[in-house]
Parts: sequence; structure tokens; C-alpha cells
Amino acid sequence: FEDLSLEQHLRPHSFNQYIGQDKVKENLKIFIEAAKMRQETLDHVLLYGPPGLGKTTLAAIIAAEMGGNLRTTSGPAIERPGDLAAILTAIEPGDVLFIDEVHRLPRSIEEVLYPAMEDFCLDIVIGKGPSARSIRLDLPPFTLVGATTRAGALSAPLRDRFGVLSRLEYYTPEQLKEIVLRTAAILDSEIDSRAAEEIASRSRGTPRIANRLLRRVRDFAQVKADGIISHSLTNEALDLLQVDRLGLDHIDHKLLKGIIEKFKGGPVGLETIAASIGEEAGTIEDVYEPYLLQIGFLQRTPRGRIVTPLVYEHFHMEVPKK
Ligand code: ADE
Repeated sequence: FEDLSLEQHLRPHSFNQYIGQDKVKENLKIFIEAAKMRQETLDHVLLYGPPGLGKTTLAAIIAAEMGGNLRTTSGPAIERPGDLAAILTAIEPGDVLFIDEVHRLPRSIEEVLYPAMEDFCLDIVIGKGPSARSIRLDLPPFTLVGATTRAGALSAPLRDRFGVLSRLEYYTPEQLKEIVLRTAAILDSEIDSRAAEEIASRSRGTPRIANRLLRRVRDFAQVKADGIISHSLTNEALDLLQVDRLGLDHIDHKLLKGIIEKFKGGPVGLETIAASIGEEAGTIEDVYEPYLLQIGFLQRTPRGRIVTPLVYEHFHMEVPKK
């Protein structure tokens, strides 16, 4: 794989290779083409949506299509204004600066970022006390691509400085199947069509999960079946991995059964359920809940989370009468 990691090798490198997110892709293609025609940088882009849907991959594709370098950092990694200054002053014209988890940027950093985004300049304070002075540095034009799982957690002034807002959606089973087949081909693995469908339908709408499950199933196939990924082997492997028919794993189960068994199906507050099953509230909210809400297993009410009758049916439990 030359100098690319396996992960990088599997990632699509252009819009042509990127499956799904059709609306986001079509829009970005137009904005990129227009910016190139005007010989300008692309406006700043905010990508938001659940984890694993391809935000980092899209940032890399945007950089490639714009012909700039991709520079990657994350909100929590930038602690002091100097950290941001070091990153921004290393930028070359047309680069894409990707800030993952942009909602976790400290507020003091946001202030430094505003003029950088709006006017491509940086105001930094040097020295301390009475001799402190502020100097202004010009930056080359660049595109900020921010990614977040929660657009609502971004401060309004920061959100307003992005010219393009793109929400990534869960993938359909058909799109995930295509992704699984593409990845299997890159891995040089033989997989049958129904096996790819099975992995797709158990991947919670998420390519990162689909590719991870494919690699685990491929391990089983290698050890137990001459490397060929058949439908029956896939079912066997996914059952052993404790990934159920809908792709729910043991943490989803713990969450849903916890609400049923300890809180009579809800409503129960996020913090309360998190503490009772020993998981982080933030992880539940960002990683587990969005898909359970999407498939109608959970509902958010003003009084907390409730499970729906679909959950009882999924677990072959009797739906309680209210
Ligand atoms: N691998 C992971 N996500 C992908 C996508 N959206 N298209 C193609 N391959 C992928």
C-alpha cells in the first residue's frame, strides 16, 4: 500500500469514488467549481452529523479537489491562542484546515479564529502586563472545514462564519452494500452479494461500522473458510461479535434494557440512565442515541428518554400496558 495506512487506503480519494451523501456531494462540487473559476478559495465549510459518516474523508476530498494540502487538528487539541497561531502561520495559500470536534474549541480560541476566518488575519498579543502589544499577521487565504457531531453545540457567532453548512445523513443499506463491496475489492477479499447485504443491514447506517465489521468477518473467513466470505459465515461471525439483526451491539442493548428494567421504559434523564449503566452521557448522546432515535427505538421527551414498543418487540418482550 505504498506509504498509506490501511485506513487511508480504504478511503475514497475523490467525489467519484465517494458513495452516498448525494446532496452534500452535488452542492460541494458546485461550490468548488465556482471557487476555482473565480480563482478563490472555497468558503468555510461546516460538516455535521453522527460519527463515522465520512466527515474527515470529505475534508480530504475537498482539499484534493481544491488542489491544497489538508492540515488536520481538533477542537480539544487547541488549548491556547499560540497553538492556533502555530497552525495558521504554517498554512499555505489554498490549504484546507480541518478542525474535527470543532464544537469543543475553547471560547478564547474562537475569538482568535473569527478574524482568521473573515479577513485572513491573526491578532496576537505578545508580552505581558503594561508592555503587552497586539500585532496583526496576514494569513494566506485558506478554507476551514469544521466537523461536529452536534451543530447545536457550536456558538452562534462561530456557526455564522461558515458559508457552507452540510448535514451528513445515515446511509441506506444499498449504499452500505456498495461500500462493503468496494472495500472488499480493495482488500482483495471474495465476498458474496448476500454477505455484503448482511453486513450492510447490521451497520447502523454507518460506513465506518460496515468496514469494521467487514474486516472482522474477513478474519473469520480467513481462519475458518479459505478466505471466502459467504452469507452463512457472515451470519455466524456477526452473531459471535454480538451484533444483532439491526446492528445493535451490547451497549445499545444495555442502554435499552436498562431503561426498560430500571426505569419502566422511561421517561428517564440522560445523566441518570448513563450513570446507571456506567457509560458516558456524552458518548450515549453522540454515538448511540442518534441511530436509536432514527429507527424509532428511542424518543426524547421534555421529561427524558422513553423506549418505544418497537424495542419490546425486538427483544421479544411483552409491551407493557399503560
Ligand atoms: N468508505 C467509507 N466511506 C465510504 C464512502 N462514503 N464511499 C466509498 N467508500 C467509503
